[in-house]
Parts: sequence; C-alpha cells; structure tokens
Amino acid sequence: MGFTTARIAVLLSGNGSNLQAILDAISDGSLEHGRVELVVSSNNSAHGLQRARLAGIPTAVVRSRDYASREEFDAALSNVIDDHRIDLIVLAGYMSILSESFVSRYPRRIVNIHPSLIPAFAGEGFYGLKVHEAALAAGVKISGATVHYVNEVCDGGEILEQETVRIEGIDRAEDVQQRVLTHVEHVIYPRVIERLSKEIVGNRDDR
Ligand code: GAR
Repeated sequence: MGFTTARIAVLLSGNGSNLQAILDAISDGSLEHGRVELVVSSNNSAHGLQRARLAGIPTAVVRSRDYASREEFDAALSNVIDDHRIDLIVLAGYMSILSESFVSRYPRRIVNIHPSLIPAFAGEGFYGLKVHEAALAAGVKISGATVHYVNEVCDGGEILEQETVRIEGIDRAEDVQQRVLTHVEHVIYPRVIERLSKEIVGNRDDR
C-alpha cells in the first residue's frame, strides 16, 4: 500500500455524497489505485466532515474568512495539502472558487465535478441547485455531469468525462439534482479518479 496508491484530498462544502461514493468505490475495490488521505471543508458544519470522520480520514476546515488576504488563505490551504503529500485534489461540492495562483501550483492535479453538461449551465454563478434551476428554466430534456481538470477559468478546464441523464417530466430542481447525483455523478467520479490515480501511480513507478 502507500506507494501503490495515489494520495487524494477531497475538498467539499456540504453533504459529501460524492465523497461517500468515492469511499464506497474504494471499499468495494473498484477504486483501487487511490486513497482519500485528507478531507478539507470550507466550513465547520459540512456533513461531509462527519462522513470523513466515520471513515477515519483526517479532516481540516480552512475558511477564507479566517484569513486577512487571499494569499494567506491560499497558503493555509496549500500547507495542509502539502503536509499530507497529496497527489490529487478532488473537488466534490466545494463551493469556493480557487485562485489562479493556487490552481497554478497544481497543474493537472485538481479535478472537479460539475452537475451539468459543460458548457451548458456552467461558469461563475452556476453551482449547486442553481445549475438545476437553470436547466429546468431552459426546458432541457437531458442533463448530466462533467468531470474536468481545474484551471484558472471557472468550469473551463479540460473535460475528462461526461454522462447524460434524462430529466424530462421532473419539475423540482431538488429532484433533478438527486437524479444527476445518483445516476451520473456517483458513477463517473469514482471511475475517473481511479483512472487518474492509476496514471499517477504508473508515472511514479517509471521514475
Ligand atoms: C454536486 O451536485 C456537485 O456536482 C455540485 O454540488 C453538489 C455537491 O453534492 N458542485 C457544484 O455545483 C460545483 N460547481 P455532494 O456534497 O452531495 O457531493
């Protein structure tokens, strides 16, 4: 172990059902090349923190409001990530936008899941339920989710995976969200993380 697995940090702000899907995939062996070594929350009350504690994973809360400047916040976040020697930063319902300077420290080492088919309903202002409200307002019959690398453009990094789900006939944003989470997000995120983890471990072996 250890050397044969990529060290993953999950950053979240809320329920953490995607974190749970990742942990479940590790338990059932479908995600075998990665381990969640750290969970970071942007607030104290995220339910995802409890899920992490239950799984025995170290947690940290890093809140921008506790720091005088963006630079100090970035430094605090980087410090906790670097202290745990993290290979892959996984954003899973993380509701803060990472600064350009933070993102540039981890090229192709940060991934995000967005609950729509990018470029639809994506970019600044589109997060959580707002994404599904916009999809309903547009009257789309199909939605889905996108896993992408994080770069300095909000929801603009290289797309790694997308899957669709029909949402026709659903009229509450909460129900669309639930459908996208269970039919798409919880399926594709662990799969992409396994692929990237395997690559990271493979590159390590090549050295
Ligand atoms: C997920 O639907 C995720 O795609 C979305 O927040 C939800 C978090 O759920 N993320 C964004 O909107 C980011 N722009 P979870 O806490 O149960 O994983």
